[in-house]
Amino acid sequence: MQPVEIAKGIFSVGVIDWNIRDFHGYSTDYGTTYNAYLIMDDKVTLIDTVKKEFADDLLHNISQIIDPRKIDYVISNHTEMDHSGGLPRVMHRVGEEKTLYCSMVGHKNLSMHFPQKWNYQPVENGGKLSLGKRTLTFLETRMLHWPDSMFTYAVEDKILFSSDAFGQHYAGLELFDDRINEAIMPHARKYFANILMPYSPLVLKLVDNVTDMKLELDMICPDHGIIWRKDPGKIINAYIEWSRQKPERKALVVYDTMWHSTEKMAETIVEGLGQEGVNARPMHLRKWHRSDIITEVLDAGAIFVGSPTLNNGIFPTVSDFLTYMKGLKPKNKIAAAFGSYGWSGEAVNLINKELEEMKFQVPDPGIKVQYVPAEVGIEACRELARKIAGLLPE
Ligand code: FEO
Repeated sequence: MQPVEIAKGIFSVGVIDWNIRDFHGYSTDYGTTYNAYLIMDDKVTLIDTVKKEFADDLLHNISQIIDPRKIDYVISNHTEMDHSGGLPRVMHRVGEEKTLYCSMVGHKNLSMHFPQKWNYQPVENGGKLSLGKRTLTFLETRMLHWPDSMFTYAVEDKILFSSDAFGQHYAGLELFDDRINEAIMPHARKYFANILMPYSPLVLKLVDNVTDMKLELDMICPDHGIIWRKDPGKIINAYIEWSRQKPERKALVVYDTMWHSTEKMAETIVEGLGQEGVNARPMHLRKWHRSDIITEVLDAGAIFVGSPTLNNGIFPTVSDFLTYMKGLKPKNKIAAAFGSYGWSGEAVNLINKELEEMKFQVPDPGIKVQYVPAEVGIEACRELARKIAGLLPE
């Protein structure tokens, strides 16, 4: 990616990772970008770096604007390795003695990742840094999504460098929202669901704080994907809506199957839900990636989870999904379990336990069918679908 001047004296100098398809368990079918920003002022400042493997590409981009040795300050908004993995290479080239700004927790966390004794300058929430003509303000955003996370706000330019928040795993040449329009929203939504959903209450609080501070925003520059400049309020409003997790009349029937019995149950439940006017979809766990299912979980009012009993337990893909979903702490869900078994049939009870631990409403003990769902089993699936549909919002 060539450097691009996104505002007077401010350049996007990050890199595109076209080929990444798995980002620590999140499917990135469209690749991603690691964004970094160079501010040309009396004090030349680099905001964030990139993944280690791309550090030389970042330095090459910077070199097209200025000799990296002329950088005075480096700011690390976030310790995670996709943004700070390139720090050793960058600091070596920029000069190990240069000042490295980060949050207090960022200092601690970066020190645990890297042995170098860099010239750290930890900043406090609301701290300011003059670059000459510009002022930067630092905003701590603890647990959005790491304890070290912070935003950097360029006051005169009205630009928020928002680290992971408002990002998307999307590799493309568009760079700005006005060049891709609505097509970016599914990527932003998937990103929110898989990265920020557990912190929904903090997102709402942050938006309140930013509103109270009356921060004017001409541009939001995240560390992944496109920059929001046409209407930064659009992504903020989307975050408010997604954080509320308002349940829709929508259900997911997530399952795996060994000999099609649990599959037959899943499809019968979906059919029954459809007859009750519920937007429902079966999601076979070896056909759908867990991160795509979670994107749909965001506004679903009901989650059905189906598993055959395998060796007295839950089928492995279903356990994987339950573990992943539990960590993301979705709210406001009604849930139910189902599945076939041969001779012991533990899976449904084990799933119920997981669903209850997730604080989902589980109004039915679920359905176990021995071997194949004969007429009685099929009717039980229809009845379960009717019961759950009756509890969903109209
Ligand atoms: Fe894009 Fe939390 O790293």
